[in-house]
Amino acid sequence: MSILSTLEGVSSTVFSNIFIQLPYPEGDLSGQTIIVSGSNQGLGFEASRHLLRLGVEKLIMAVRGLKKGESARQELLKSTDREESSVEVWQLDMDSYTSVKSFVSRAAALPRLDALLANAGLATNTFSVSEEDEKTITVNVVSTFLLIALLIPKLRESASKFNIIPRITIPNSALHYIASLEQLDPQNESGIFKSLNNKEATNMAGRYPLSKLLVLFGVRAFVNRLSQSQAPLVIINTPNPSFCKSQLVRETDSVGLRVGERLLARSTEEGSRALVHAIMADEKSNGQYLTNCRVHSPSCIVTNGKGVMIQEAFFEEMVTKLEKIAPGVTSCF
Ligand SMILES: NC(=O)c1ccc[n+]([C@@H]2O[C@H](COP(=O)([O-])OP(=O)(O)OC[C@H]3O[C@@H](n4cnc5c(N)ncnc54)[C@H](OP(=O)(O)O)[C@@H]3O)[C@@H](O)[C@H]2O)c1
Repeated sequence: MSILSTLEGVSSTVFSNIFIQLPYPEGDLSGQTIIVSGSNQGLGFEASRHLLRLGVEKLIMAVRGLKKGESARQELLKSTDREESSVEVWQLDMDSYTSVKSFVSRAAALPRLDALLANAGLATNTFSVSEEDEKTITVNVVSTFLLIALLIPKLRESASKFNIIPRITIPNSALHYIASLEQLDPQNESGIFKSLNNKEATNMAGRYPLSKLLVLFGVRAFVNRLSQSQAPLVIINTPNPSFCKSQLVRETDSVGLRVGERLLARSTEEGSRALVHAIMADEKSNGQYLTNCRVHSPSCIVTNGKGVMIQEAFFEEMVTKLEKIAPGVTSCF
């Protein structure tokens, strides 16, 4: 991590949270079907509330706990005065490839799919392995791109049938500016994922920022590959809602963080505006990082020569991994 990059990330967050008020989402989503993962609380819940207010015809709340999902659904229906049929709660555990695959099989039967807000994510200080990687990498990165790649055929089918441009949004974070590149050596013969799975070499305090850096690499690489295909356009973007007061850092009892939260953090309602803006954004947002509802340059560690090499090495490995999990899934490129 460079000092300049760190300064940029910190100053962008402080400036955004003190001086910028995000625009209240406006627009018309009638007729649309949108999936929001991790929508039982936090940013995903508030984004769902906006989407319902803007008239989305069908909201699919993709949650790992059906009970929590159902009580969130009731709260959303009550506060938006929408009809029961406008919201469904479906099971999705991003910690399990089987769950991701069964969720997508179910989604294949939807008459139409306009957008996916791949919002589910976690930050943890504990190193544990789920599926074949450290849990943050499994949930925030591998399962997120697995979900996206598996849903692309459905989104493209909807694009052709309904003459729409489908969208995919993955929340990002200014913390990607402070991610360490130490475990991302593109020349490491045993590979990036293996290095990320080395418990002794891992500082878990840096794992969440690193996962968001990998999301940026993945989004940029996915969009490059998809744009080489003749198939209908699917927009993929990655907005930064900035520091918000949610359950994301539930494991941390740091006094500094709680004070920072009090002084600086946006409400989840305000942060969710950035996600709703992105899920309704046009082609200019394709492959882009956004801050304060505008396209914004990511850290130079993403765009410089070394970043480009890391992106390619990481993406090649991810394609191999996704193919192993779901053979044929990357034929969408
Ligand atoms: N808060 C911020 O300052 C901030 C800033 C930048 C980006 N973000 C991003 O915004 C997104 C939402 O975060 P948040 O702040 O709203 O956090 P949050 O309140 O902790 O919500 C996270 C959501 O993701 C779900 N989730 C976690 N692990 C999952 C799994 N294995 N399978 C399915 N769902 C899972 C959670 O479900 P459970 O309730 O079952 O745990 C919850 O619904 C995340 O991608 C986060 O990285 C947040």
